[in-house]
Amino acid sequence: MSLIHEIDYGTPLSKSERLVTLTIDGQEISVPEGTSIMRAAMEMGTQIPKLCATDMIDAWGSCRMCLVEIEGRAGTPASCTTPVAPGIKVKTQTQRLKEIRKGVMELYISDHPLDCLTCAANGDCELQDTAGAVGLREVRYGYEGDNHLGLEKDTSNPYFTFDASKCIVCSRCVRACEEVQGTFALTISGRGFESQVSPGMNENFFDSECVSCGACVQACPTATLTENKVIEIGQPEHSVVTTCAYCGVGCAFKAEMRGEEVVRMVPYKDGKANRGHSCVKGRFAWGYATHKERILKPMIRAKITDPWKEVSWEEAIGYAASEFKRIQGQYGKDSIGGITSSRCTNEETYLVQKLIRAGFGNNNVDTCARVCHSPTGYGLGQTFGTSAGTQDFDSVEDSDVIIVIGANPTDGHPVFASRMKKRLREGAHLIVIDPRKTDIVRTPHIEADYHLPLLPGTNVAILTALAHVIVTEGLVAEDYVRERCDWDEFQNWASFVADERHSPEAVEKYTGVPAELVRGAARLYATGGNGAIYYGLGVTEHSQGSTTVMAIANLAMATGNIGRRGVGVNPLRGQNNVQGSCDMGSFPHELPGYRHIGTDSVRNMFEEFWGVHLDKEPGLRIPNMLDAAVEGTFRGLYVQGEDIVQSDPDTKHVTSGLSAMECVVVQDLFLNETANYAHVFLPGSSFLEKDGTFTNAERRIQRVRKVMSPKAVYADWEVTILLAEAMGFPMQYDHPSQIMDEIARLTPSFAGVSYEKLDQDGSVQWPCNDKAPEGTPIMHIDHFVRGKGRFMVTEYIPTDERTGARFPLLLTTGRILSQYNVGAQTRRTENSMWHEEDRLEIHPHDAEQRGVREHDWVRLESRSGSTSLRATITDRVAPGVVYTTFHHPSTQANVITTDYSDWATNCPEYKVTAVQVMPSNGPSQWQEEYEAMARNSRRIAAE
Ligand code: SF4
Ligand code: SF4
Ligand code: SF4
Ligand code: FES
Repeated sequence: MSLIHEIDYGTPLSKSERLVTLTIDGQEISVPEGTSIMRAAMEMGTQIPKLCATDMIDAWGSCRMCLVEIEGRAGTPASCTTPVAPGIKVKTQTQRLKEIRKGVMELYISDHPLDCLTCAANGDCELQDTAGAVGLREVRYGYEGDNHLGLEKDTSNPYFTFDASKCIVCSRCVRACEEVQGTFALTISGRGFESQVSPGMNENFFDSECVSCGACVQACPTATLTENKVIEIGQPEHSVVTTCAYCGVGCAFKAEMRGEEVVRMVPYKDGKANRGHSCVKGRFAWGYATHKERILKPMIRAKITDPWKEVSWEEAIGYAASEFKRIQGQYGKDSIGGITSSRCTNEETYLVQKLIRAGFGNNNVDTCARVCHSPTGYGLGQTFGTSAGTQDFDSVEDSDVIIVIGANPTDGHPVFASRMKKRLREGAHLIVIDPRKTDIVRTPHIEADYHLPLLPGTNVAILTALAHVIVTEGLVAEDYVRERCDWDEFQNWASFVADERHSPEAVEKYTGVPAELVRGAARLYATGGNGAIYYGLGVTEHSQGSTTVMAIANLAMATGNIGRRGVGVNPLRGQNNVQGSCDMGSFPHELPGYRHIGTDSVRNMFEEFWGVHLDKEPGLRIPNMLDAAVEGTFRGLYVQGEDIVQSDPDTKHVTSGLSAMECVVVQDLFLNETANYAHVFLPGSSFLEKDGTFTNAERRIQRVRKVMSPKAVYADWEVTILLAEAMGFPMQYDHPSQIMDEIARLTPSFAGVSYEKLDQDGSVQWPCNDKAPEGTPIMHIDHFVRGKGRFMVTEYIPTDERTGARFPLLLTTGRILSQYNVGAQTRRTENSMWHEEDRLEIHPHDAEQRGVREHDWVRLESRSGSTSLRATITDRVAPGVVYTTFHHPSTQANVITTDYSDWATNCPEYKVTAVQVMPSNGPSQWQEEYEAMARNSRRIAAE
């Protein structure tokens, strides 16, 4: 294995379909119109020296290193900013060019420290390489006089250092921040000799607008911006391409290694989801994988009040299996079940559901998708016929109007947000439907055309009001609907939405959104060209989550916005493999590929292949397992990579259910909250320690590759095999590729997927089979998967969770960029420097009424429970609405949330809780007790 060097073509790819033919150094080449001479030369293998150009950003033309001569033209134009033209003859290497380049280089080096041997970038420095390429052998000018060598380093960012003394002011960092990331955190301050890269006025990187995405570090051709790990460890010596294990964007990375140590994660330009970009989590926050609190030895205990006892793998697995068998013998075969993880690979998830269905002999399997995107599966399945987003991420480049509803992409899906922001800066229109003024509403060079700040819980009313305008103002794409959708159902739906009670004016009183905003947004979406809808958990985590998804699908069908680039309905999936865990049959009623367990032909196929009889009745969902535990009929649970105490609603109910069980087996990296109720702890493995695949939000299946040996001996898939064997259901796999072969054989939408194909193509989007051998970037092109698109009537039924005198405010929850979900990983990295605690956002008016000042401790109370946290006073939330994140277990926002859930899928209603806020003196007693317990767990782990 060696380091993967991706070619830098100097300037971005031109998308023109017209070819231009020219001659470079006597060789003829044809390239797309708009290509730079630099890129054309690079494509034929000729590298023109460059410093300020790189192919992730537009050419700038400042360094004067890339000059060329063009026959018949005067001067020496910069090849990075000069586009190709038909018939031109270019020379890249003449005596005149050599002398100019050497002279320019000499000037750069005369103000640059000559410490190459001890510089962290030694061997990976474009300045060094370019000096060599132009044949610079001596520098005539000394360091006397003014120079920049004494400038101070900025070490404020925990992940990279800015050493201004090495800066050549090429501006690549500034442009990467603008063009790739879209944050505009950097500027070149001063003029001429005083020019300097600056993260804001008198600010360091940490205190500036910088979001630590690292695009500037990647773009920097010198050691000015360097990863701290490179400074600490040295240059990597080999790389392995793998996939980020945080969010559903699915960024591809080169894990650059020294031996088994990760030196840095570099976003892979060939990654089709991220195209060479990343966020702070994927690029920098991987230190949890080797954190000292990881549990590396299996442990057991008879009672949850007993101390843990470290045992061998054999003993732990044997104990778990014998307990499960004992429980089944005593309480019946349905008395145990399991939970798959959306953080684990497809192969691991597949094995867990197989173990439960075939080894446990019941269908009591569920997944954390239950608490996030299960309504997506239901809603899109009903309307379109398949349970996934319709587009690839590239599609956004062709969108003209983008609706973002119930999603906060700059925090939750940052790399996709950067791609979306780029399209918005190019002129696409934006409609944001969200109770909060999220960053995307107003960010540098972007301003939403409409922000509909609805009250939490009124999504269906707003979407039906948008449909009302489209139908009553004659904006329906009738030809499309007649051809592609069920016309009778459309008419039924159209007369429903046209009813006056669904007009923007009628719903204004309970949505809180002025009617003219709704009318304007509806007209823009219906008539503004390609309309794309992106949504998140603000849509699904409601009592009407499934209805909202169907209302979104209705809007897209009514306006003809399904089945081509630039349009579509796209759930922004939360966890890295939440799409995959759903695809792999993690729900109690569905086998892999979303096929009902009750369908004889499907079940018989699995029975035959697995050699067992399968129960045809759907099993228990997570909340039902917990109910049954409290009632005494459910007694054992296998939880792989999931912390239901923290992530599921109504914490008290979850802990009562777990406490009632006789054998809870937790498999995880750390002693998580659920492990407090466990009898067996099986160490988990991080994404760096195993092979497998993840499926991202665009249905893209990508390889996860092992870069280090499992720290606790086994990868998660191997542990499931051990448990299955001990349960008397042996599984034979030597490698996850064999598991994928089985998935492909039994799942029509995966029929064409294999590791061989993934290694060859990089990734593939399902369905991938005989009908679509190269996968399916865009779905429903000629017809919907279910045949005719189905309009569903979406009656708005207000949630039972109402505000009143006792609980007058509505709490809604969300994520922040630097932390990830329950924070088990990110809290164990320097990312906590940006978010040390969960805060309550409260509007100035509500704060004043309660005597709450900025940073004050407040008590947050609902019908379910209470917690304390500190306040941030902001008009990002509307009066009457408060907001918090749920990354820190000492806050436990889910103590507050209720057990209301989506009518179709039981997805909890996290986004609406009636609360009261009042000043408090500090953390509640249970929070202090919790902190003491957590400290104790950390001590055990450290020992
Ligand atoms: S920090 Fe690096 S990329 Fe930015 S201007 Fe200086 S040398 Fe160029
Ligand atoms: S790390 Fe990202 S956000 Fe920060 S300055 Fe660099 S490019 Fe901009
Ligand atoms: S956007 Fe998501 S997948 Fe990409 S690096 Fe960030 S967390 Fe990882
Ligand atoms: S690379 Fe062309 S001017 Fe710098």
